[in-house]
Amino acid sequence: MNNAELLAALKEQGARIDAVMEEDLAIIQSPMLAEIIRHAIFQGGKRIRPLLTLLAASLVGPPPADTARLAISFEYLHAASLLHDDVIDHAILRRGAKTANTIWGMEPVILAGDYLHAHAMALASEVGGPAAMALIGRATAAMVESEFLQMHNAREILISEEKYFQVLMGKTAALIAAACEAGIAHSQGSPDQRLALRTYGTNLGLAFQIVDDLLDYLGDPAKTGKGVGNDFQEGKMTLPLIKTLARAEADDREVLVALLKGTPRERSRQLATARTLMEKYQGFALARAQAESLLRQALTGLAIFGEASAKEPLTGLAHYVLSRDK
Ligand code: IPE
Ligand code: IPE
Ligand code: MG
Ligand code: MG
Repeated sequence: MNNAELLAALKEQGARIDAVMEEDLAIIQSPMLAEIIRHAIFQGGKRIRPLLTLLAASLVGPPPADTARLAISFEYLHAASLLHDDVIDHAILRRGAKTANTIWGMEPVILAGDYLHAHAMALASEVGGPAAMALIGRATAAMVESEFLQMHNAREILISEEKYFQVLMGKTAALIAAACEAGIAHSQGSPDQRLALRTYGTNLGLAFQIVDDLLDYLGDPAKTGKGVGNDFQEGKMTLPLIKTLARAEADDREVLVALLKGTPRERSRQLATARTLMEKYQGFALARAQAESLLRQALTGLAIFGEASAKEPLTGLAHYVLSRDK
C-alpha cells in the first residue's frame, strides 16, 4: 500500500465515520444543543481516534458490522474533551473557526460536553459491553486527573520532562490507547493482542502530543487552525522548551526563565527570541527525535501481528502522525 492508497483508504473510512455520526446525532431534541454539537463534531477534525478503533478491529479479520458505532464513541469523547478544554483554556480559535465557548458562552458548552460524554458512554456500553465501557471510563478519568496535574504544574515556573510526560499520558495517550484497545477487543482479540494495541496506542499518543506541541511553535496557523505560540504565551512548558532549558548556557537560560516569570504579554512579544534560543539548543530537533523514537516503540508493539497486510494502515497512520502539519 503506497501513501496515496493509504490516504484514500483513510478518507473513505473517515467518510463512513461521519455518516454514522450524522445518523446517530439525529436523536438530539434541543436545537441549541444540536447546533453546538454539530459545531464540535463537523467543523473539521482528523478522526484519528475512531479510525484507530476501526483499523485495530480489522487486524484479526473483518470487524463486526457495528464497529463503526463503537468507533464514534471515541470521537464523541474527544469532542467533549475539546469543548471542555477550550472553556478551561479560554481558547478563541479551534480548527480555524471560533470556539463554541466564544459563540455560545460557557454554560451551554459545558452542558453540551457533558451530553457528548454521556452519549459516548451509553454507545460504548451498548455496542461493546462492559469491557468497552470500562476502557472509555478509565480513559476519561485519566484525562481529568491530567487536567488537574496540568493546573498544579502551572503554578511552577519550570517543569521536568518526567512531569511533562505524566501529563501527556493522561491528556492524550490514554484516550488514543483506549480507542485502539477497544477495537481489537471488539474483534475478540486475545489478551496479548490487546496489550499490543495498548502499547501501540500509548506510544502513538505520546508522539502525537509532542508533534502537537511542536506545531504550537512551528506550525502554520492556516493549517493547524490554532494560533501560533500559544503555549509559550501561556507559560506552558512543553518538550522543546524543557529540552532547551536543560541545555542552555547560563545567560540564555536566564533570558528564558525571566520570560517565564514575566507576563503573557511580554512572552507574546518575545516569542521570536524564545524560538531562536530553542533552535540554538536544538530543542525542536530533540523533541522531534523523541517523537520518532516513541513512534518506533509504537510500531514494535505491532510485531506480534507478523507481516499481516492489515497492519499497513496502522503503520501508515503512525507515520502520518509524525509528518502531519495540522
Ligand atoms: C487535538 O487533537 C487535541 C490533542 C489531544 C492534541 P486532534 O489533533 O486529534 O484534533 P482534531 O479532532 O483533529 O481537530
Ligand atoms: C488538548 O489539550 C485537549 C485535550 C486532550 C483535552 P491542549 O489544551 O494542550 O491542546 P489544544 O492546543 O487546545 O488542542
Ligand atoms: Mg487547549
Ligand atoms: Mg488544555
